[in-house]
Amino acid sequence: MALGSERLHVVGIGGTLRASSTSAWALERALNAAGRAGATTDLLTVNEFRLPIYEPGKALDEYEPIVGEFISRVRRADAMIWSTAAYQGTLAGVTKNAIDFFQFLSDSEPPYLQNRVVGLAATAGGDIAAVNAINAMLHSVTSLRGTPAPLFVAIPQAHNVFDKRGNILDKKWADRLDQLGWLVVDHASRFHPARIELALGA
Ligand SMILES: Cc1cc2nc3c(=O)[nH]c(=O)nc-3n(C[C@H](O)[C@H](O)[C@H](O)COP(=O)(O)O)c2cc1C
Repeated sequence: MALGSERLHVVGIGGTLRASSTSAWALERALNAAGRAGATTDLLTVNEFRLPIYEPGKALDEYEPIVGEFISRVRRADAMIWSTAAYQGTLAGVTKNAIDFFQFLSDSEPPYLQNRVVGLAATAGGDIAAVNAINAMLHSVTSLRGTPAPLFVAIPQAHNVFDKRGNILDKKWADRLDQLGWLVVDHASRFHPARIELALGA
């Protein structure tokens, strides 16, 4: 974890391998709000990293270098935002695979995601699966000893919410994603009070 006078740092992971990914756009929106709240931010999309499949027992340096870069950037997180697409009724495998690599945070100090707040968002084509995806990610947050942010943004029928360039057409969802970014910083600041002067409001 970053120390001393450095600002609170929020790392976003998510999106899909789709070039125009609604879950990546949702992530970017929430992360920008975290930045406006006073944090430094880092956006890690699965499309950029193209991680291989996690293999138990394989050392970090046995993977291609992009995996080491992914983990070192995740290690810098004081807080995180995860955003997934819903596939087959739950979180997309590509997101879960990225989370599986967090096994390498077992030797972080403190371990895994302890003392880190994690905000959760998901997009889906239908009405239900984004909620399932959030609930599935919630299990991962707590199993990694993280602290879930007290707002979930599950966006149904995402094709009606974003235009083709990633602009949000529905103010309700824009506001919720902004609020998520702000809340992540607000709650993370309780773990790291010396690291942030919180900007007011979402
Ligand atoms: C393989 C696959 C499975 C999907 N399964 C579901 C599903 O079970 N329920 C649902 O509501 N949408 C489902 N969708 C639609 C996606 O959740 C939706 O298009 C989402 O916005 C995609 O996110 P992205 O734009 O970040 O790729 C599926 C899409 C794909 C490609």
